[in-house]
Amino acid sequence: MTIEKMMEVLNKPNVHIGDPDHVKHVIEQIIQGGPDKLQIVADFDFTLSKFYEKGKPCSGCHNVLEEGSLPEVYKEKARTLRDTYFPIETNPKLSIEEKIPKMIEWWTKAHALLETCEISRDSIKHCVSSSTAKLRDGCSWFFDELKTYEVPVLIFSAGIGDIIEEIIKQQSTMHDNMHIVSNYMKFNEEGKMTGFQNAIIHVYNKNENAIHDSDYFQNIEHRTSMILMGDSLGDLHMGDGAEVDHKLKIGFLNGRVEESLELYKKKYDIVIVEDETLDVPNNLLLSIL
Ligand code: TMP
Repeated sequence: MTIEKMMEVLNKPNVHIGDPDHVKHVIEQIIQGGPDKLQIVADFDFTLSKFYEKGKPCSGCHNVLEEGSLPEVYKEKARTLRDTYFPIETNPKLSIEEKIPKMIEWWTKAHALLETCEISRDSIKHCVSSSTAKLRDGCSWFFDELKTYEVPVLIFSAGIGDIIEEIIKQQSTMHDNMHIVSNYMKFNEEGKMTGFQNAIIHVYNKNENAIHDSDYFQNIEHRTSMILMGDSLGDLHMGDGAEVDHKLKIGFLNGRVEESLELYKKKYDIVIVEDETLDVPNNLLLSIL
């Protein structure tokens, strides 16, 4: 696909671009670099997965457990936590500095609550298969195409790694070019969950510090083009550990559209509003690969 055709693809009522000349330039540079120079960094919940399907909300990975067979008392407490903290996470009037202590509070309480539930490793499969968590339309094509060209994909999530892997395995394929950095559960010998493996990754510490002692970005430092995909402003920092020449930031704005659109247009190069597909990134891959 030519750059002109690609810009036409972006010319849709739900696709918003603050600076079209900049976007055109970055896409041209990424196309020129080709697949050998490319790396992808993507958030999971509501970026690779759907926010809504057929008018109904879909689960993020924490909610997969709430929809599953956990005790009612857990579900109620988890819902209360979300009703308290999610509006803070998405409030465009609060600064990230103001939000961080609240997010640490949320993840700490949510993880402590999960530890009381005696979750078994086996139950995760069932929770996922019976949940409303759904990969976006076109996500399998996206993963398969990136595998064909051996483009590394970092999925960076403040969700739960075990659940993300299970969703991908059930609805698509977890290829060996894909790497997940997230909160992973710890299990004892009987397969019961006893806690989490590393320090908390919450929505606003998804930067290089959260890739625990990892040389992920160093190993691919010759890949100087990055496509970064996210749905929150915290996701913008997911690629901070990599020094790249060209970065295209694609943001999915799933809710609070009127109050957040202008801010998103300043922070993300391309903003996709209320769309449950990966059509825009997939069209980009058609041009680059
Ligand atoms: P991320 O996928 O964008 O990295 O963020 C994970 C999302 O999980 C974030 O929007 C908040 C949400 N969440 C819950 O729904 N329930 C919880 O218990 C916690 C800790 C987070």
